[in-house]
Amino acid sequence: MKDERHGQEPPNETLDPDDWEQIRSIGHAMLDDMVDYVRDVRDRPVWQSPSQEARATMASPLPRAGRPLREVYDEFKRSILPYPTGNIHPRFWGWVMGNGTPVGMLAELLGGAMNCHVSGYDQGATLVEREVVGWFAELMDFPAKSTGLLVSGGTVANLLGITVARNHALGDRVRSEGVGGREAVLYCSDQTHGWVDRSADLLGLGEAAVRKVPTDAHHRIQLDALHKCIEVDRRSGRTPLCVVGNAGTVACGATDDLGAVADLAAQEGLWFHVDGAFGAMVKLSPRHRHIVAGLERADSVAFDLHKWGYMQYELGVILFRDGGAHDATFSFAPSYLNSFRGGIAPNPTEFASKGIQLSRGFRALKAWMQLTSYGTDAIGNIIGQNIDQVAYLRDLIARDPELEQVGPSEMNVLCFRYAPEELEERACNDFNVELLVRIQESGVAVPSNASVDGKFALRVAHTNHRSRSEDFALLVETVKKIGAEMLAEEPREWEPLVGPGSD
Ligand SMILES: Cc1ncc(COP(=O)(O)O)c(C=O)c1O
Repeated sequence: MKDERHGQEPPNETLDPDDWEQIRSIGHAMLDDMVDYVRDVRDRPVWQSPSQEARATMASPLPRAGRPLREVYDEFKRSILPYPTGNIHPRFWGWVMGNGTPVGMLAELLGGAMNCHVSGYDQGATLVEREVVGWFAELMDFPAKSTGLLVSGGTVANLLGITVARNHALGDRVRSEGVGGREAVLYCSDQTHGWVDRSADLLGLGEAAVRKVPTDAHHRIQLDALHKCIEVDRRSGRTPLCVVGNAGTVACGATDDLGAVADLAAQEGLWFHVDGAFGAMVKLSPRHRHIVAGLERADSVAFDLHKWGYMQYELGVILFRDGGAHDATFSFAPSYLNSFRGGIAPNPTEFASKGIQLSRGFRALKAWMQLTSYGTDAIGNIIGQNIDQVAYLRDLIARDPELEQVGPSEMNVLCFRYAPEELEERACNDFNVELLVRIQESGVAVPSNASVDGKFALRVAHTNHRSRSEDFALLVETVKKIGAEMLAEEPREWEPLVGPGSD
């Protein structure tokens, strides 16, 4: 068929507006609304389930034709905005979620306008990411020559750490040949987050390669058991890859004796990786940094900024002491991404060669704006305040005969349950499951849960810069009020917990 347009100029359609003033005015309204939304968060329920109407709206047919932006924005305000996870609220302490800041919100707007592609290139965003990674290396007391990368979060940061550890131990040929028949293993405590199993799976090691070493009463890895485990594996012809230390475990916030784990790893010639997803951030609090002493000796450390760095999702960091091992693992220079002597692309894969993403956004901007506008002292101060607030909650619980702390409570994490005398031990777990759901549904507070020593507990993991002491008093009051209401109901079996949990 003959192309009708042959010889004619093609049209000049664009997705930009005809009327920029209209975009400006909607944009101003959005900004005003969002500043109010964040400012007034305390006045709303922490969480509410999306309405039927919202669910129906969000199941609409594919929009082949567009609609005016004002209408779309109205729909957003009606069907999406009222139903957040709730983690920006002062009484959200579930899982380990941070709440971001107004500065972070604005940074997302600025970064969105620039919309940079940050695999490398000679541009401002590259300078910012280099600078931010350098700042975090300094905060973690890593050497000046260490390298790192901003990533989507703790899972990916840890995965990159373990990937470098694997290649360091097995040699660079693993990149072309795979792990083959070699039985390579890694060590961590039985309190380690699920990223470790996923990483072993993805790296071709298999989940069975993860040795979960028992912990002591404070949930710290038992060094003797770790040592024995390594010996047994070596004797059986397996190849130990690395030892993972925890700075802040997911159930109770415990931190291993990182200095002692570093000594053992050094003695065994093993890579030492630290999962500091939230705990590494206590480095910023001068009163608490001793908790993670020894972290600075790690070969790699992973941590999140969207948790205890109070930055907007998604943002994590991985740092490597030895830039050579890091580069050897991820170097990437395909022919279509040449480096040139000048121009925009002297280094188009600078960051792509430090991780697994080629196309990357300008994640560094929100970190840069947050650090430069608040300063690391102020952030460290709030981290310290969070730890003090959890100590305050611990006191409230200790003084209340109806409440019971469950497991150790380290740093910013506390597990507890409603356990008045009249509630039989065997019914306590299912009772507290129902209690947790009712507290969340009340909109007053969102704790999450943990099972420690067979006890189902409400869990507060505090990485919230908006919480005040009175919020913890209200949590206790709410737990007791709903607990008493439940006790007063007709005795019945509470629904058992559905499905395995994850953090
Ligand atoms: C100790 C620990 N490690 C790793 C992770 C995973 O981090 P992310 O959710 O950012 O992938 C978490 C998440 O809560 C965590 O608490």
